[in-house]
Amino acid sequence: MACVYKFWWRIAGATAYVLMLSLLAPTAAAGMNDVPTISGAFEIVSDSEASYRVPVDLTVWNSQLWTANSRTGTVSRIDLPTGKTVAEYRVAKSLSSLARWKNGLLLLDDQQHKILRCAPDSVSGDLQLAQTIPVSQYPVRIAVSSDEAFVAVSSLWSRRLTLLGGTGPDLKIQQTLDLPFAPRLLKFIPGGLLIVADAFGGQLAIVETATASIRNYHSVYGHNIRGLEWNPGTHRLMVACQTLDPATFTSYERIFWGVVMQNGLHSISLEQLSGSAEASDFVSENPAYSGAYGTPQQYPLGTPSTGSGDPGAMVVTNNDTTLLVLSGVSQVAFRTASHLPFERLKTGLRPEAIYLDDTQQHAFIANRFDDTITVVSLDGDAPHIESTICLGDVRPLSIAEQGERIFHDATISLDGWFSCHSCHTDGHTNGGRADTFGDEDKGAAKKIVSLMGTGHSGPWAWNGSKDSLEDQIKTSLIITMQTQLPSDQLPIDSLAAYLRTLSPAPSLGAARNEAALESQLQAARTAFSDAGCRNCHAGDGFTSSEVYDVGIHDEMGETLFNPPSLPGVSQRAPYFHDGRAPTLADVLKSSHHDPKTPLTEQQIQQLTLFLKRL
Ligand code: HEC
Ligand code: HEC
Repeated sequence: MACVYKFWWRIAGATAYVLMLSLLAPTAAAGMNDVPTISGAFEIVSDSEASYRVPVDLTVWNSQLWTANSRTGTVSRIDLPTGKTVAEYRVAKSLSSLARWKNGLLLLDDQQHKILRCAPDSVSGDLQLAQTIPVSQYPVRIAVSSDEAFVAVSSLWSRRLTLLGGTGPDLKIQQTLDLPFAPRLLKFIPGGLLIVADAFGGQLAIVETATASIRNYHSVYGHNIRGLEWNPGTHRLMVACQTLDPATFTSYERIFWGVVMQNGLHSISLEQLSGSAEASDFVSENPAYSGAYGTPQQYPLGTPSTGSGDPGAMVVTNNDTTLLVLSGVSQVAFRTASHLPFERLKTGLRPEAIYLDDTQQHAFIANRFDDTITVVSLDGDAPHIESTICLGDVRPLSIAEQGERIFHDATISLDGWFSCHSCHTDGHTNGGRADTFGDEDKGAAKKIVSLMGTGHSGPWAWNGSKDSLEDQIKTSLIITMQTQLPSDQLPIDSLAAYLRTLSPAPSLGAARNEAALESQLQAARTAFSDAGCRNCHAGDGFTSSEVYDVGIHDEMGETLFNPPSLPGVSQRAPYFHDGRAPTLADVLKSSHHDPKTPLTEQQIQQLTLFLKRL
């Protein structure tokens, strides 16, 4: 193991400086893919093997730091205060989150859609599986209330929240709630409330834990909510997100001044959170450009020439120090009081998760793309980087993995204002519109396309003007990002390789396991063909290479558009090139969208069922 690092630690008032080589525990290496499904000890991974762990979450438990490594499905256990990786356990094919609960750890297995409750072995302290609890499909985040009475899991594509609890050691499901948006972040706040944030757009659901019910919804003026924290001093919810202005376009000047994409920290009071939209209003509201938002206080992050693309997770201490990761520029911003400006420190590659230890002396940051943990000391006048912990050697990356890093790297845009992910969130879409004038039109913002499945659905762009994915990516880099990279060094091939790995989003119907009779499905398939949809949405990709005038013209007079590929369509509202149709039913009811004769109510029902399962 070649990973060398420095580690400063204060022990009993004295500063001990330890320079060490990281040593992983010796192992009995077994088959890499054998993942235990029954109770018992987990396999310990051999330290001789370089891999690509991609840590996405972390916590401190039993005086040790534990990370959830998404790509390897492993958990790294790091001894504090030495900073040494003690062991790496293989627990699943893939992990999305972890949390501490009672005397154990809860891990989220996002391929088997389960919580793995683990307890320490009483002798060795090794991680042992104690219970598995199936949850709604595609679980992405787990959180525990401060009194440990409640555990919550957000499930992305099934758009559900699972609430759990338990008085004994076992965890039991109490309630599963459907949400009108795909959720990600969760935050328990005082007053018995749980805040659930939209993974792509700007919606929040406010949940009452005692009654396990949704009290109301609130819209944040923005998207990509990647930081959600409670400030105990100001009693306000802190939300880190981005705000894209569809009324401006991606020219050099406008990106330079931070007009196109604002990266901000919103501060929302409990009163603002509680008085808001009804669930029914919510669906028709496009977070990116319509609706009433209340008046959040927004603190802008970034100044001209110093962008702060993709603000992420944060922690706020009891004495009002904030640490906020700037994922896209690989930095952590800090301020020692809410009224002070942020300063910045360098982290590893794409910091995404942060954990504040119970003493509030240290914060640990998981850097997703280089398998490291940045240790920030909060001791002294200002936060400072104390050390970097390596989780192990990183193997050489494939071209698609290199592309994935670049896709999430805001430093490829002018001054670091945004990454591809800022608009195409996690390869999907933030639901908003942007005027990237890739279609040579200014003044006609276009709905941001989901890139899930884009590798196989050419031609590209709404007007079908790009014959190859590479052509489109080149335009995205040069015009949308105003990249300053030399023209012979544009990372087109790696970005294309990455995008070709993205499959269409699972349909809402399938993700929710919604029951439908085979006869109903057959009728729905027939309705799709009979209504002539296949004339344009043809083949496996449900698209074609032609452009059509379906009567939906843009502000600049463009009339011809390429039929979007339909797999995964239920996950990407609003619809059409300008996002004018909030729901699939609106698409079908729109008298302009081709059908020569308006569809009957029964056809609309059948087609909606078809599209929801595609
Ligand atoms: C400011 C928001 C924004 C950013 C940042 C952005 N895009 Fe886009 N992207 C869009 C919009 C809007 C469209 C649709 C444009 C059109 O059709 O006129 C689009 C279209 C695309 C398409 C075509 C998809 C299809 O199926 O037709 C691809 C591929 C793409 N973008 C890749 C990228 C990549 C790669 C990056 C980063 C280098 C990137 N985009 C950055 C907004 C953005
Ligand atoms: C004449 C060709 C044509 C026919 C026939 C047609 N479509 Fe479309 N469809 C399009 C085009 C073009 C668009 C994009 C229009 C735009 O955004 O301006 C589109 C958009 C859509 C969208 C929105 C996708 C998105 O991501 O925004 C859905 C859903 C859809 N069509 C479903 C259907 C169904 C169901 C039928 C049959 C009832 C149908 N279409 C018939 C050409 C067609």
